[in-house]
Amino acid sequence: MIAATSLSIQTPKHQEAGVPVNVQQLKQRYQAAGQGHLLAFYDDLNEEEQKKLLDQLETLNVERVNRIHQKATTCPSPMLNNQAALLAPLPEECFDSILEASKDKIQEWQTIGLNQISQNKVAVILLAGGQGTRLGSSAPKGCYDINLPSSKSLFQIQAERILKLQQLAQQQPGAVENVTIPWYVMTSGPTRPATVAYFQENNYFGLSSSNIVFFEQGTLPCMTFDGKIMMESKSKIAVAPDGNGGVYAALRGTGVLSNMAERKIEYLNAYCVDNCLVRVADPVFVGYCVQKNADCGAKVVRKNAPDEPVGVVCLRNSAFSVVEYSEIDEDVAHAINPKNGQLSFGAGNIVNHFYTLDFLNKVESFEGDLEYHIARKKIKSLDIQTGDVITPKQVNGMKLEMFVFDVFPFTERMAVFEVERREEFSPLKNAPGTGQDCPETSRRDILQQHVRFIEAAGGKIIIGEDDEQSEGAPTLEISPLVSYSGEGLAEIVAGKTIKTPLQVSSLDELKSAVF
Ligand code: UTP
Repeated sequence: MIAATSLSIQTPKHQEAGVPVNVQQLKQRYQAAGQGHLLAFYDDLNEEEQKKLLDQLETLNVERVNRIHQKATTCPSPMLNNQAALLAPLPEECFDSILEASKDKIQEWQTIGLNQISQNKVAVILLAGGQGTRLGSSAPKGCYDINLPSSKSLFQIQAERILKLQQLAQQQPGAVENVTIPWYVMTSGPTRPATVAYFQENNYFGLSSSNIVFFEQGTLPCMTFDGKIMMESKSKIAVAPDGNGGVYAALRGTGVLSNMAERKIEYLNAYCVDNCLVRVADPVFVGYCVQKNADCGAKVVRKNAPDEPVGVVCLRNSAFSVVEYSEIDEDVAHAINPKNGQLSFGAGNIVNHFYTLDFLNKVESFEGDLEYHIARKKIKSLDIQTGDVITPKQVNGMKLEMFVFDVFPFTERMAVFEVERREEFSPLKNAPGTGQDCPETSRRDILQQHVRFIEAAGGKIIIGEDDEQSEGAPTLEISPLVSYSGEGLAEIVAGKTIKTPLQVSSLDELKSAVF
């Protein structure tokens, strides 16, 4: 088996083995940058620890870190002033909804998307560098088993959707001989080893390992509120992944953009690991964006109430933007579009994007203008006065993050596509038992969708006595290998009945289950 390609940001030349680091110079540089405390315990360290620390300090661009901190803490959000005047709803010509579109139109978009996939022009980018602190699992979120009858993890569900979509696109007239949808999986320091090992152990879920490329996002130091870089121990700076917006620099720095160009990829779909309903490389969305000639696209769901705490895609200072709920005045949040009776600011962001490769290549030209956001956290760190490692009870520092949608203001031709929430969005954010965006709701939403698949295909469902339904969902699981989004079932189930609990792994299994 060919090993999955693995890319990481290249080591800078000056860090190559054997090149001595001038400690004195480094001390001066860090002192000049106001970060001299990072070497406070240098003399207490053994040789190996000293080397470890120096390697880290050498690689870090401390002046850039200071600039980022300065910018993040001093540039007030434009939203702090005169909020309503700066916001405007999405222009009509940039927005379409699958809920309003005709069947023919949806079919047209789907065909365009499938055609692009069938020419090997579409790839996917998975954002899987998050640490999933709210969920509380030690493994990467993608390995999480949401307790489906099959015990499939989120990674496996996504892999099987890719496999199925490859098969569907292969049937398009004029398809290339071997339709492939390359999968670019972004990990971070904390998630990388376990993610790569998990894919290997599971034989890449049946996908070709040569079409899965792991790449690693960057990190930034954690900082105190007065701008000092924090330490994890006497020999190690405390760092955290630089947010899902780190994807752009990582795509470039690790050579993924070149890999995409070599493969002649033109369109990308980027998505979050934690959405169990995600339609990976959704041909309808790809087709919609291609038809719109968009350079960047965003899938959204309708906000279910004015006060739902979700970011919305709209215009801010005439540029496309995601505006957080906390940044919107109440009357703006409640404003209604008289034309359709919907919320004017109702395009809930689900972090599922379309890009042209050209656009991804352009990000470098405006990267310096992108914002960093402050995430206030409890960060286990070294007390510089005492040399003890402290586990704080209160928030004691900040992580600096970029968000993947921060590029929206720089798009030239943005397209926003509304999809149905119950069909496409159910994120796994919180710990079991919390009742919202948790493993139980993920499981429920998949099972309920599969019931709808059967019913829409003309089948009837009987809930068997031994079906221990939970959360009101009959236990019916249909493998993505059988159906990507409900297609291909009618010929088997129309006019027929099936009884739950039922787990369907193949069309033959479905055939033998109907009566
Ligand atoms: P979230 O912001 O929900 O973070 O990530 P999270 O790590 O999953 O969970 P919490 O906040 O720690 O509880 C949304 C998506 O962005 C990815 C995540 O993996 C998820 O797919 N992400 C987040 C990254 O890829 N890198 C990051 O640095 C942060």
